[in-house]
Amino acid sequence: MDISSLRERLAAHGQEHLLQFWDVLTEAQKKTLYNDLNELDLEEVLRFYKKTVSSLNEEQTKLDERMEPIPADMHGSVTRTPLEKIKDYEETGLREVSNGSVGVLLLAGGQGTRLGVDYPKGMYDVNLPSRKTLYQLQAERILRLQHLAKEKFGKCGEIPWYIMTSEHTKEPTMDFFARHSYFGLEKENLVVFEQGMLPCFTFDGRIILEAPHKLARAPDGNGGLYRALREKNVLEDMERRGIKYVHVYCVDNILVKMADPIFIGYCLSKGADCGAKVVEKAFPTEAVGVVCRVDGIYQVVEYSEITLKTAQKRNTDGRLTFSAGNICNHFFTTQFLKKVVYDYESSMMHHVAKKKIAHVTPEGRAHKPDKPNGIKMEKFVFDVFQFANTLAVWEVIREDEFAPLKNGDGAEKDTPTTCRHALFSLHHRYLLNAGGTLVDSEGEPLPLIPRPEDRVVPDSVSPAAAPKCPTTVNANTEFNNNDAQKEMRWDECPVVVEISPLVSYAGEGLDHLVANKKFTCPLSINPPAKKIDV
Ligand code: UTP
Repeated sequence: MDISSLRERLAAHGQEHLLQFWDVLTEAQKKTLYNDLNELDLEEVLRFYKKTVSSLNEEQTKLDERMEPIPADMHGSVTRTPLEKIKDYEETGLREVSNGSVGVLLLAGGQGTRLGVDYPKGMYDVNLPSRKTLYQLQAERILRLQHLAKEKFGKCGEIPWYIMTSEHTKEPTMDFFARHSYFGLEKENLVVFEQGMLPCFTFDGRIILEAPHKLARAPDGNGGLYRALREKNVLEDMERRGIKYVHVYCVDNILVKMADPIFIGYCLSKGADCGAKVVEKAFPTEAVGVVCRVDGIYQVVEYSEITLKTAQKRNTDGRLTFSAGNICNHFFTTQFLKKVVYDYESSMMHHVAKKKIAHVTPEGRAHKPDKPNGIKMEKFVFDVFQFANTLAVWEVIREDEFAPLKNGDGAEKDTPTTCRHALFSLHHRYLLNAGGTLVDSEGEPLPLIPRPEDRVVPDSVSPAAAPKCPTTVNANTEFNNNDAQKEMRWDECPVVVEISPLVSYAGEGLDHLVANKKFTCPLSINPPAKKIDV
């Protein structure tokens, strides 16, 4: 170990503090730290840091004057498109699946700090009757879609599943899939790769030490995808398999429609190289980015970047002008990805995330701060919209397609309970559409679970007059009326229905099982106990 030249190199970049504990480290710790520091491209990370923080000092001018919505002809919506057209899109998408041209790419490198578990979020089980994890639900949706495409076109295209992990999530994810026999998928169709990590910095530009011998590091954001695609040769794998279209999505949306053929068909019909599935913004101040154009260039604009007046602006039909709420659900052609990865990736800026970063004190003790003490540098997956020639937006119904798991139970939204109920609610509607009914013990039809935005019961409504389903998404919150409390708890919502993705991808194929039948809860609809033929 050439410690003196390392010390010199660090000093030249103002980072000599990284060796402050050197003399008290064990030999093994010295080796770890020495290797980590030698492998670190200091010039590059400091260049990233300087570029990233310089944006912090720039005056943040609001974007209102420069913004325009996506043109109406490129902003399709499932609720405003005739059914026949939707069927055409679906057929196109299924044809591409059966041709083997479609891949899915999961962004699963996040640390899931808000959820607070020490394993990958995809392994989380939100307590469905089946106890299926997010990974299993997604795997089964792929299997079912392959089956549907084969049924329709007689040809079995396989959908490779690319999973981007990070240092923390790669090994547990691979072990998990192996332990569960890849949930019925072919092992070679699962491609797990790792995104990069970057050191965390103090606000004054010093790399943070997490332990005396260890740098504090974090994944480089879900936009780290593009660098990882290059460094891990993932694009080559896609080309080898003949993948032309890729559906990219986040791990935490329990309702995600993997490789949604309607979305793919829609994007293809528009000749788009890049597509964004969106939901209509629920209210002007909702903290969701909107897909739009700024100076004619496609971009996602956050609520904080516009004034309230623009956020509230409405069209003549009453809908918000900037309504395309981004849900991290994208379509890319592989040609587009190639262009991004080889021509543009290095010019994409990181964003600053001010975070509470665990670090070591000068006395060598571990410390978890209670307010932000440094920054992580992240790229975002949607940062590439600016490079699209043609971007198509496809608006879907929030209750049908978007319920993210971000927080633990007890938080206001996006919890295991809200995810579970979103899935029950969707499956209840599948059942009703197929002619079945869920009834209570007296044979009375059960009401639908209220949509999250309809769940707030005004103070003036007494518990007795409130809807049958609980009005709060928080399992621990109860009404203030003792008698009503038990039956009103959200967690005890009477609708419990789970339809295996192996039976139905999006509500299809249920009629012969449920039409004109009544069911009580809990209801689980599963395939016959044999391997599905795909
Ligand atoms: P989030 O921004 O919600 O982050 O990620 P998270 O890591 O899941 O949760 P918190 O913020 O720590 O609580 C949105 C999606 O982007 C992925 C996540 O795995 C999730 O699917 N992601 C995030 C990455 O793949 N890499 C990253 O570096 C960050």
